[in-house]
Amino acid sequence: MAAKIKNVNAREVLDSRGFPTVQADVMLDSGSVGRATAPAGASTGKREASELRDGDPKRYSGKGVLQAVHNVQTEIARALAGQDPTQQEKIDRTLIDLDGTGNKGRLGANAIVAVSMATARAGALAAGVPLYKYLGGNEATLLPLPMMNVINGGRHADRALVMQEFMITPIGASAMSQALRMASETFHRLKTLLNQRGYPTSVGDEGGFAPSLSSPENALELIIEAIETAGYKPGRDISIALDPAASEFYSEGKYEVDKNGTQKSSQAMTALYSRWIRTYPIVSIEDGLSEDDWSGWEILTEKLSDKIQIVGDDIFVTDPELIRKGIERRIANAVLIKVNQIGTVSETIKAIQTARDANYRVVISHRSGETEDTFIADLAVAVNAGQIKTGSLCRSERIAKYNRLLEIEEELSTRAQFLNPFAKAGG
Ligand code: PGA
Ligand code: ZN
Repeated sequence: MAAKIKNVNAREVLDSRGFPTVQADVMLDSGSVGRATAPAGASTGKREASELRDGDPKRYSGKGVLQAVHNVQTEIARALAGQDPTQQEKIDRTLIDLDGTGNKGRLGANAIVAVSMATARAGALAAGVPLYKYLGGNEATLLPLPMMNVINGGRHADRALVMQEFMITPIGASAMSQALRMASETFHRLKTLLNQRGYPTSVGDEGGFAPSLSSPENALELIIEAIETAGYKPGRDISIALDPAASEFYSEGKYEVDKNGTQKSSQAMTALYSRWIRTYPIVSIEDGLSEDDWSGWEILTEKLSDKIQIVGDDIFVTDPELIRKGIERRIANAVLIKVNQIGTVSETIKAIQTARDANYRVVISHRSGETEDTFIADLAVAVNAGQIKTGSLCRSERIAKYNRLLEIEEELSTRAQFLNPFAKAGG
């Protein structure tokens, strides 16, 4: 007999920044409960699904989510009662239709995504298998290479650096456990280096250090030094990935790359990245240009796509339609995947398929506001994504995902795979 949803509940809980978010429970007839919690971005793309915040300045500066919680407890609970939790697409369709807007703003993308993910968890419980296997079947065996954000700038760190994320990616690792060790050792060396040079070692929203460095080159050089002092070889064992999050410093056709007011055109930005690629072991650049600069993205892609991975985040917002448009215009060669950007699990999987059909790579991603929920770790393995970005080597909301990947790696045992997506063919 198929499992049935008995009720759906939700509550207001706090995320890693201490702001409210929605946690949803999908309860089955059997008594099992699938639970999931919505993450929240700070440098959000304009076309993301719209989260619902109460706007009452007396509670959490307007960031409360009691209305979204109420929507789950009433309208959503009524619509899902009696449904089979393993019919993920049908349930996601019900949520989309019930909301009735194009951006999930009526019921709230935060309400919808929490329920959608909780449904997947309930489905996995009903099927009696772990989430990655439930979503991905027996072929789900690839552990993702992590990109770890060790220096935070932009909106995640009070704008010490204009560019948002300086990440390390342990390409030389042969297992998740080894990747974590290499990255952690480098992270702690970086801390020592910053300390020695008189910088504070407090961390930003994603657990990377947030020093007031004079330039992005300064950040890149410190990371390379940290990799070396940890005993690894930059470019062979550990490479660098960037997410400048350029939409955040773009206005009127120009990029303001530092606090002195230096402005650059799309062409000049592309030239800057080209120079960096020649100088530093950079394998991936995400959001190197703004979500509003599609023609700039065409140039950037044409110039750099045979050299590095070019990831679209704000420009695609995990939306299959925008990804399709990007593919048509030859923009980027990889897609960042965030479940709450589009708002349901099924649409996320469709976005991944759309990217894959055009030979674009996929990188599963956290948000800067996270919780202890490890959904994306299972998702990355389920779709054999090959890459994940889920923060630095401290702060438990980040580490929880890495620890979950370690559990999955152990569970898959000899079937677990770990590959370097940046390995040159034959090299
Ligand atoms: P966000 O940042 O979660 O604040 O949007 C992450 C990113 O830009 O990739
Ligand atoms: Zn990004």
